[in-house]
Amino acid sequence: MSEKGDRPIGVFDSGIGGLTVLKEIIRELPQESTIYLGDTARVPYGIRSAETVIRYSFENTSFLSSRDIKILVVACNTASSVSLQAVKNSVAIPVIGVIEPGAKAAVRATRNKKIGVIGTAATVHSNAYTKAIHAIDNTIQVFGLACPLFVPLVEEGWITGKVTAMVAKQYLGSMKEKGIDTLVLGCTHYPLLKKVISRVMGKEVTLIDSAVETSREIRTLLEVFDLKREQKKSPTRQFFVTDSPDRFVKVGENFLGEKIDHIEQIIVGN
Ligand code: DGL
Repeated sequence: MSEKGDRPIGVFDSGIGGLTVLKEIIRELPQESTIYLGDTARVPYGIRSAETVIRYSFENTSFLSSRDIKILVVACNTASSVSLQAVKNSVAIPVIGVIEPGAKAAVRATRNKKIGVIGTAATVHSNAYTKAIHAIDNTIQVFGLACPLFVPLVEEGWITGKVTAMVAKQYLGSMKEKGIDTLVLGCTHYPLLKKVISRVMGKEVTLIDSAVETSREIRTLLEVFDLKREQKKSPTRQFFVTDSPDRFVKVGENFLGEKIDHIEQIIVGN
């Protein structure tokens, strides 16, 4: 049994959305302890400048590092897009974002070499997915599209219904015309809208959930660094937020599909 493996996996997101990533981590690695930080006081990150998101990411990383985590998962697509390298440079533990795993899966899935990427404005404008896809195969055409209204719709729990279907249709109409066969759900919230998105895009378009791919890569990372938890005792699940723990628990339990017991409000940065 490796003692260093007993430490938790640290995960941060701008708020609640990263619980879709945590959920996949728990599904893939149920024996691992986790610490989740949702920066609910400063969400959304997707409309902010890269400079600001980088600063927030450093502050979140610094908090999680102080809790003795063994690896850090940047669950937020926006933060992964603009700050992953800076975060990696700032800590001695392995760091994984959601962009590269999602990009790899999309390249594997596409047949006609036309991939769509939807995300926040910051993610789309950063071109992080395009760069990651082109690093693997630069003959692939990538079409980015920001869908900012999807985040508040999901936050309100409007994951089905007429309004959400209308918004999806309006946003994705232009994407459909590109003739893509693969669409990356490049935002923590979008996996919850899979059904609505799939209905607009049609069955022939494969939807890529970065969260699923990321959790598989985390497993590999733990194996490579010999960091798997071998303990038979139940793993611990800790949650920290920078604002409104009650709302986080209420909406978050839906995202996660299980109870959130240990939650604390904290201040990151200054
Ligand atoms: N977590 C963000 C992302 O995946 C979505 C919410 C936000 O804008 O902060 O890009």
